Amino acid sequence: MTAKKRVGVLISGRGSNMMALIEAARHANYPAEIVCVVSNRPEAEGLKRAAAMGIATKIVDHKTYASREDFETALDDYLRSQRLDFLALAGFMRVLSVEFIAKWRDRAINIHPSLLPAYRGLHTHERVLADGVKAHGCTVHLVRAELDNGPIIAQTRVPVLPGDDAETLAARVLIEEHRLYPQALALLASGRIRIDGDQVKTSS
Ligand code: GRF
Repeated sequence: MTAKKRVGVLISGRGSNMMALIEAARHANYPAEIVCVVSNRPEAEGLKRAAAMGIATKIVDHKTYASREDFETALDDYLRSQRLDFLALAGFMRVLSVEFIAKWRDRAINIHPSLLPAYRGLHTHERVLADGVKAHGCTVHLVRAELDNGPIIAQTRVPVLPGDDAETLAARVLIEEHRLYPQALALLASGRIRIDGDQVKTSS
């Protein structure tokens, strides 16, 4: 088997998607290994969970840097020191600059709780319910400069059911996020993704 791709996960919070990636990557035939987890928030719950799974953790606290540029330089320096092939953003709540994103172009992915390009941004579940939309879901996409935009790797559709509130809907979507993200990372890490303009072509 060819060497596993080295992946770093960026988080800001509870890290349930991060856990799904770590668990998937424990399988011998998974094409990637999770090398490190980085949080911009020292209190992120996911840091403890990653450490308990034996993964290297690092805090790069944006509040301790004078500028976004300094924060991103520190972040990039650490990520490069880990010799990563790919970055997986998993609930990472910091907007990254065009310059940072350019450095990781086609090597950084994100998971978003909506069927993009619908419902970019925050509070997707509340907005879906307010609009009376019947089909919701989650998307894994390559990171581009515009927030929650970028070539789509994979999506899962989730129904909106009568009686749903934001919590029940979020929970239904999250179950699918935890399935979708490891699948999408595996596609990328095993080289089964070709980027053709704004579109991702996948092969089996
Ligand atoms: C997920 O819903 C993800 O799609 C979004 O932020 C949430 C993070 O949750 N980007 P977790 O930290 O992975 O539990």
